[in-house]
Amino acid sequence: MTRLEDKMACYAELIQQGLERYLPAEKGPLETLFAAARYSALAPGKRLRPILLMECYALCGGQAEDALPFACGLEMIHAYSLIHDDLPCMDDDDLRRGRPSNHKAYGEAMALLAGDGLLTRAFEVMLGQACPRIQPAWAMKAASIAAFCAGMEGMIGGQTMDLAFEREKPQAQQLEEMVRLKTGRLLLAACAAGCALAGEEGEIMQRARHYADNLGLAFQIQDDILDCEGDPAVFGKPIGSDASQGKTTFVSFYGLEECRRMVRQLTEQAVQEIAPAPGSEFLQQLAQSLTARTA
Ligand code: IPE
Ligand code: IPE
Ligand code: MG
Ligand code: MG
Ligand code: MG
Repeated sequence: MTRLEDKMACYAELIQQGLERYLPAEKGPLETLFAAARYSALAPGKRLRPILLMECYALCGGQAEDALPFACGLEMIHAYSLIHDDLPCMDDDDLRRGRPSNHKAYGEAMALLAGDGLLTRAFEVMLGQACPRIQPAWAMKAASIAAFCAGMEGMIGGQTMDLAFEREKPQAQQLEEMVRLKTGRLLLAACAAGCALAGEEGEIMQRARHYADNLGLAFQIQDDILDCEGDPAVFGKPIGSDASQGKTTFVSFYGLEECRRMVRQLTEQAVQEIAPAPGSEFLQQLAQSLTARTA
């Protein structure tokens, strides 16, 4: 294993333990609600957002583990977005992280509630478990970044545009804006909240934001490519879902070849943005590694 993979595995292990701690199994009347939330949040994902958050916090001089509650909170927000994204009224997908989607396992009503529960739990964990080395003002700032990025002018706004573009085809600029919001904003939340938690507001914060912005676009374009030509056993999601739903994606708009070029170019841009920051080698390698991802 490379050093990148070793470090990713270490982070992933830490995040898994954190999620277990902050989202324990329950008995009694809420047993199914917690089981449904855990089913999605603890399922094997890449943990990209919490890893970015902890790494950006470390880049700004923090001890990565101190940011674990925030990292796990952000992963809960992401998991909620996936549960709702798969619902029949959204993308209507039956497979997620290699397992039946939440609503296939627990029914639509429970999937809705588990998603709502994860979103609110996220902020409870972020603001209730903050480490004494993190100043309250920094924690507030990080939580407010997460809320903005996940909200109506962030991920939810992007999801709204994504649905609208099933009916009317967007211009190139609108398509890019949709992707910046629906996917880019949670990656931006990871990087910017990681910096904010360490009290960083200067050049490194700006660099981390630009890195996340480019990485977010590249990440969604690669997702659109894999939706066309991925292996469902590896990707863990249905193949051909976008086309069958009549989605406008980067692939439907530009074609596969151009999309591959865009992923390379945007990744290069992300690397260049963060490279001047001392200690950013991991973030650079992580971005590069995502261009070859199959999951
Ligand atoms: C899936 O995100 C949703 C998109 C923004 C494309 P990930 O590809 O990070 O999903 P997991 O967390 O690894 O399952
Ligand atoms: C939406 O993009 C990502 C979210 C904001 C949840 P997709 O709909 O392409 O994500 P996948 O492919 O289902 O993970
Ligand atoms: Mg979608
Ligand atoms: Mg989807
Ligand atoms: Mg997709």
